[in-house]
Amino acid sequence: MAQLEEILRPPERELPPYPPKFIFLASGEKMVVRQASREDIPALLRAVRPLTEVERDFYDIVAARTYAELLGWQRYRVRDEYCLVGLIDGLLVGLVNGRSLSPRVGVSYHTIAMRRGVRVGAHLFASKMEYHIEHLGQKEVYVVAESPIGFRRWMIEYGLEKRPQVHHELGGVMSWALTPELYFAAKERLVVGERPVPQDLMDTAAEITVLEEEVLVRQVTGRKVR
Ligand SMILES: CC(C)(COP(=O)(O)OP(=O)(O)OC[C@H]1O[C@@H](n2cnc3c(N)ncnc32)[C@H](O)[C@@H]1OP(=O)(O)O)[C@@H](O)C(=O)NCCC(=O)NCCS
Repeated sequence: MAQLEEILRPPERELPPYPPKFIFLASGEKMVVRQASREDIPALLRAVRPLTEVERDFYDIVAARTYAELLGWQRYRVRDEYCLVGLIDGLLVGLVNGRSLSPRVGVSYHTIAMRRGVRVGAHLFASKMEYHIEHLGQKEVYVVAESPIGFRRWMIEYGLEKRPQVHHELGGVMSWALTPELYFAAKERLVVGERPVPQDLMDTAAEITVLEEEVLVRQVTGRKVR
């Protein structure tokens, strides 16, 4: 690696793996939740890009930031980032990402549901809280909401605690925190899924497919792309 590139790159650290699970959605479909790998990034970027133009429900700002974060991961410009994906028969229906700030503290970045109405986003957010608390063993996860739906789903449903002194990485707005106490109090109600994932189901989630742009935008908005 060139000498300057070595300076520009944050050190790369292997984070503990997220054990995959599957969730029965209200639709009856099975959604596999698994960790995304570097090889998945191009497909994720392709899925997120069209949503950067969707103003409805703040998909635009969330998608634009998520795009930058995923690109930052691909181009080695973010430290200790991870991404979990929700897949139905290999089709990407949502994703969540975040990063590890320290052994004690996690930072929640974004949640995007590409299929609406069956709590895909809520289940994926729960999976990332599970990752921070149960697998990374962190004592606090800093969370913000960029949309009213996000506020209902995270701050209200989990009863997150305010951390007025913490400016979140996402724009410096006030952070809210999930602690192990809040997580375990909510776990039975909000964190679902079964393990292990049977091999035949896991095989369907090996390669990520992405909906066509028009179909994806219609699916999250009910409208055609601009
Ligand atoms: C926030 C988000 C992840 C939640 O995902 P989810 O749990 O799967 O929930 P949905 O988006 O399907 O539904 C949320 C609400 O939208 C409404 N909704 C459901 N289906 C919808 C559809 N097809 N079109 C529009 N609205 C719909 C419902 O009224 C639902 O209300 P509820 O909270 O009373 O259940 C998702 O709405 C999303 O990706 N929003 C854009 C990005 C964002 O705000 N991310 C979070 C900020 S970090």
